[in-house]
Amino acid sequence: LAAPVIAIDGPSGSGKGTLCQKLARHLGWHLLDSGALYRLVGMAADKHGCAFDDEAAIAILAANLDVEFVAGEAGEPTLVLLEGEDVSGDLRTEATGMLASKVAVLPAVRSALLGRQRDFAKAPGLVADGRDMGTVVFTTAPVKIFLTASAEERAERRYNQLKSSGDDVNLATLLGEIRARDKRDSERELAPLKPADDAVHIDSSGLGIEEVFNRVLTEVNARL
Ligand code: C5P
Repeated sequence: LAAPVIAIDGPSGSGKGTLCQKLARHLGWHLLDSGALYRLVGMAADKHGCAFDDEAAIAILAANLDVEFVAGEAGEPTLVLLEGEDVSGDLRTEATGMLASKVAVLPAVRSALLGRQRDFAKAPGLVADGRDMGTVVFTTAPVKIFLTASAEERAERRYNQLKSSGDDVNLATLLGEIRARDKRDSERELAPLKPADDAVHIDSSGLGIEEVFNRVLTEVNARL
């Protein structure tokens, strides 16, 4: 590895995203949101009308993914442009998450994204957020965290998040979607969602973000 990596894996809604952003900002390190890459490939496949079992076609899209992240002015969120089109609004939806998990089962797609992900490991260091950061992409990372929370709690967090951004959502539907996505992510043959042998497990159910952050920081300080 060209720089130290903190690999953080876990299911959606475990609080990984917020934790990773906070950690990267605190350390002044780079951040890899690998889920966003799978989401963008899912959106590209959908946009180009690819069949979700057309592995070769989707792998070509993944290898040539035309994406630009435009940093916002003070306080404004980063814009994400896919093939020049602003997709920031759709990137985080549950529907896009489902598209992502469909393309994520395809081995050729996963390998097409491998180099792009590893390129993020630059000095002074990288915080990597995903499902297989510790098990596949950065196997020699000095710090590996596996962050979980119960499906019910994750559904509730998603519900509050979507609700506050004005989305019309239903808690039971969300719980069903989260369970379906967990199942697809954990049961797939290649790079399933599972902790690395050397990962530290943290269950964030009932914990606040500060508590999780402090636990992770203790691990980081002990290992780096
Ligand atoms: O983390 P996020 O919810 O944005 O990820 C969307 C989907 O992308 C996941 O459900 C999973 O199927 C896939 N993914 C993956 N490997 C990663 C990150 C995400 O397979 N490292």
